[in-house]
Amino acid sequence: MPGDMPAPYLPRHVAIIMDGNGRWAQQRRRPRMIGHRAGARAVNRSIDFCLERGIAALTLFAFSSENWGRPQEEVDALMKLFLGALDREVDELDRRGVRVRFIGERSRFAAGIAQRMENAERRTAGNAAMALNIAASYGGRQDIAHAARQLAEQVAAGTLAPEQVDEQALSRHVALADLPAPDLFIRTGGDTRISNFLLWQLAYTELWFTDVLWPDVDAGLLQQALDDYARRERRFGLTSAQVATAPTESNSQ
Ligand code: IPE
Ligand code: IPE
Ligand code: MG
Repeated sequence: MPGDMPAPYLPRHVAIIMDGNGRWAQQRRRPRMIGHRAGARAVNRSIDFCLERGIAALTLFAFSSENWGRPQEEVDALMKLFLGALDREVDELDRRGVRVRFIGERSRFAAGIAQRMENAERRTAGNAAMALNIAASYGGRQDIAHAARQLAEQVAAGTLAPEQVDEQALSRHVALADLPAPDLFIRTGGDTRISNFLLWQLAYTELWFTDVLWPDVDAGLLQQALDDYARRERRFGLTSAQVATAPTESNSQ
């Protein structure tokens, strides 16, 4: 329920690498796609959980720039799953006040999928209960390179001086620039790496890893992550004593 946890201890923005679908299926001697389908149900559970807890923003890594290199059959099946989910879920998300956005290289998707992404964004643009960001064909390095190119274009056009190219300027051009950076990062599936997810945005995010495979994720596990987050001290380079004198500041970046 929203409000059980004092606001400074509740992450405003949670970012998740949903990993382990393939292994979940393998353990059951089923094709990998069965794992992806079960993973889609875990996506719904996670959205429900975050809405109920009053989390303002949820960013899910659905498909990385590198995932295009998987066997064509798996990529095709994932695209089909993606399309089905877009058709099925957008009404319900809209009804619940969720604002849906996609980050990543949209031009790499087939026109039908790109069109549905745009429709979902347009349809839910006015919603404010929660921002749901789906990273699809997303790569953190690509995101930073794209931001750098935009600044370079402004410099070339004479609208930005080279000395104005700084952290703030770059921050304004990476994905999700209008949201607070993720407070909490979760990766399921047992691997402890970032895999080219939000590289810039995760600079001071609290990282949380679990061996649980993505299709097995439920509210209890997500609550464990929130509870663990609430116990951490975020120092942002300061000393513990400094943070203690300004307790609400520790969460304000
Ligand atoms: C994550 O699960 C989903 C995508 C990358 C699309 P995986 O498919 O990577 O599952 P594992 O890591 O092989 O178990
Ligand atoms: C990261 O998972 C990307 C997504 C969950 C969409 P991967 O399974 O692709 O990551 P690696 O290859 O193990 O680093
Ligand atoms: Mg994986």
